[in-house]
Order: sequence, then C-alpha cells, then structure tokens
Amino acid sequence: MAAKWTPDSWHNKPIQQVPEYPDQKKLLASLQTLRNYPPLVFAGEARNLRKALGDVAMGKAFVLMGGDCAESFAEFHPNNIRDTFRVLLQMAVVLTFGAAMPVVKVGRLAGQFVKPRSAPTETIDGVTLDSYRGDMVNGMDFTAEQRVPDPERMVRGYNQSAATLNLLRAFAQGGYADLHKVHQWTLGFVTDSPAGDRYRDLADRLDETLAFMAACGLTSETTPQIRETNFYTCHEALLLHYEEAMTRVDSTSGDWYDTSAHFLWIGDRTRQLDHAHVEFMRGIHNPIGMKTGPSTDPDELIRLIDALNPKNQPGRLTLISRMGAEKVHDMLPKLVRRVRDEGRHVAWVCDPMHGNTIKSTTGYKTRPFDSILAEVRGFFDVHRAEGTHGGGVHFEMTGQNVTECTGGAMAITDTDLADRYHTHCDPRLNAQQSLELAFLLAETLKQERIAVQQERAAS
Ligand code: PEP
Ligand code: CO
Repeated sequence: MAAKWTPDSWHNKPIQQVPEYPDQKKLLASLQTLRNYPPLVFAGEARNLRKALGDVAMGKAFVLMGGDCAESFAEFHPNNIRDTFRVLLQMAVVLTFGAAMPVVKVGRLAGQFVKPRSAPTETIDGVTLDSYRGDMVNGMDFTAEQRVPDPERMVRGYNQSAATLNLLRAFAQGGYADLHKVHQWTLGFVTDSPAGDRYRDLADRLDETLAFMAACGLTSETTPQIRETNFYTCHEALLLHYEEAMTRVDSTSGDWYDTSAHFLWIGDRTRQLDHAHVEFMRGIHNPIGMKTGPSTDPDELIRLIDALNPKNQPGRLTLISRMGAEKVHDMLPKLVRRVRDEGRHVAWVCDPMHGNTIKSTTGYKTRPFDSILAEVRGFFDVHRAEGTHGGGVHFEMTGQNVTECTGGAMAITDTDLADRYHTHCDPRLNAQQSLELAFLLAETLKQERIAVQQERAAS
C-alpha cells in the first residue's frame, strides 16, 4: 500500500466494474481530450469542503448529500437541475433548524453518470448484451449498438457536468438560494401536504426566527449567509479512466486533486483493499467517501480507513453506511464502536436507499418510504447509543414529481409506480417525499438534542 502513488498506479491492480472499450485508439483520444479540458472544481473548494466535513466528523456539523441515482443525457434540462437544487436547499434549511447545526450541502450532481451493476451482461429473449453502466459508458436501450462502451460519452458527460455546475454556481451565489425564498417554498409544501399539520409547528417557528433575525438587522441585504450558500458536488468515482484524466496537480499545494467533483466516493462493490479503486482514491487529496454495506468486517474497515486516511485527518474520509432498515441495528454498532475505540476520525453518514431496494408486486424496483425512514432513525439510534455523532444523510432524490418509491404522505402504491417511473437506475424519492423525510428527521434530531442536553444537565 505504501508504494508510490501516481494517477495511473491503479492500472497495476485488479479492478471490478470496469467497462471494456473495444476501440483502444478512440479511448486514448477521448482521454487526451479530457486531459486538456479545464478542471470542473478548484482544489481550494475541495479543501473548504474537507474542512466543513472535518466539523461533521468532530460532531459540530451535519451533511446532506442528495441527487439522482444516475444523471442522464436525456433528462438534461435546466428545470431538472433547478428543482433538485431547490429541494436540497429546502431540506437543508429544515435540517439546520432541527439539528441546530450548520448543514453542509453536497449534490449528487454534475458528474453522477456511471453505475456499478450486479451482472456484467444482460440477457433478454436469448440475446446477451453488456449491461447498461450509465450514460457516460453506454446507452440504456437494449441494442447491440447502444450497449457497446463508447469513450466519447465521457467527453459528453464532462460537458454536461460543466454546464450543470455552471448553473448550480449561479443559483448558489446569484440570489436564487436566498433563505427567505427557500422558506417560502417550504411553507407552500406544508400547506399542500396531506401531512402538513405535523410539519406546521416547525415551519412556523422557522418563520418566527427569520422575522426575529430581520428585526435584528440580519437580512438578505446585510448578510451574505442569508443571500448565498455554499454548494458542493459529488459522485461515485467508478470510471477510473475518467477520474484519472480529471486529476491534476494543484499549483498552490503541489498535491493531486481529482477535479471532476469536490467529493468522490468508493462504492460498496469496489472497496477491496488491494484493488484499483482504493488505490486511486488513496492518492487524491479531495475529501472522499466509502460506502459501508452489511458485508463490512470491522478489521477490514480499519485497514481501509488507514489506507485512505493514513494521517487520520477529520474531514478526509466519510463512511456512508447503507445497511438496510432490518440490518442497521445488527451491523452498524460493531463498526461504529470499533472506529470510535481505535480513535479514527471519520464522518458517519447514512444512505438509507441502497439497503432497502425491493421489487414491487407490480414488477418495479422500488423502496418503501417507511423502510428509508426506519433506517435513518436506526442509524441515529446507534450513534446515540455509542456516544458518536450521526453526521448526516445521503439520499437518492429528485425535484420532480416522480413515482418511484412507495409510501409517504401521498401514499404512493405499487400500482401508482407505473405513472411516472423515470429513473435510469435506482428509485428516487420525489420532491414531496424528500421534504417529508427532512421534516421527520428534523424532529428526530431535535428530540436527540433535547435528550443529550437533559443527560448533561443530570450528570
Ligand atoms: C449508489 O450510490 O448509487 C450505489 C450504487 O451505492 P452502493 O455502492 O452503496 O451500492
Ligand atoms: Co443508486
């Protein structure tokens, strides 16, 4: 592990989930094109995020990650970007209030184009083709032509990411993210939701707080923190060819950064210690994440932490737990305990999506709202019991009114799934369900805060 790292040292390791490009010349040409393109993010921004995630690791902040399971070329539209961004901001405001802590906002956006698959090929009616691996690799249609990995898709993915990020930066800094506006949208949601009564109290108190702040002179005009926000991007660093081409030396620090996003993570299927993905990720200086599924062994986890964060820097490594609602109470405590006892600084985040995927009676891949909520609550229960900080959440969601996850206040049923099932990969929470979850989670966080205060007062 301590061998010399270079952006291409992963080529010497075994690798999972890698597409096979039939045309090597075309692959090299696309990678050369990417190497000459500007970075999408600056190293300084990635360092700012690492610092913010350091606060999460140390129990002083909370992180919200969310966005599509897979972005697509077909759904590239400013309204889609705007709507996802808007819901993320609304969720963040609600969570800030519930947690009484800063909430770091990270979108699964502007680069989340590549998917790991459980099988390398797919067979339909006796025809076998490569599995669809995301729009940056091949096409979703089940035709031989579409399923061949095409390296030029990486260049298209870069361009779409650049345009997406440009709009996100404009929204974050240009007035769209103004706290008062975000709050007004949320009041609209509370009025329209069938479960609105449950959320009204929190919304009203937030309303009063903003009015009080304005009376004290803290307004959009006087206070940049009310007018603007910091927004970061993340995606799974699965397609290492692309990530390598986007990896550059930062002239300020002399360190290597993967400039395709602020935050990159290793998926649950590619976190083998001696394999290519861990090798690549250990050398970049971005804040990074690792999905931590039910098959994670505590010893192995410590070895991975030490490979990925040898200096034990808070903020460098985020563990994204994705156990499933039924397993979280059994599987998570021994990992949390071990990491705590060994004194390793990590931020713990809950992905309540990937362990809760089931097939509906109508044949759709779906996730029940109640399982998602149960895993989130289980995650925070575990951290509270172990005296550690449940640092945040990672959702697959969209700002659109899709019907992909069942349940929620709108009570989407197995039959309703057919209405607007648009995802290119996994089922996402729709705008309503996402905000509902934020409100319910805010309630949990607030109760926890009060319980901790009472424990402290009693001791
Ligand atoms: C994902 O986040 O879309 C994903 C594939 O997750 P995991 O690696 O946890 O299965
Ligand atoms: Co997914």
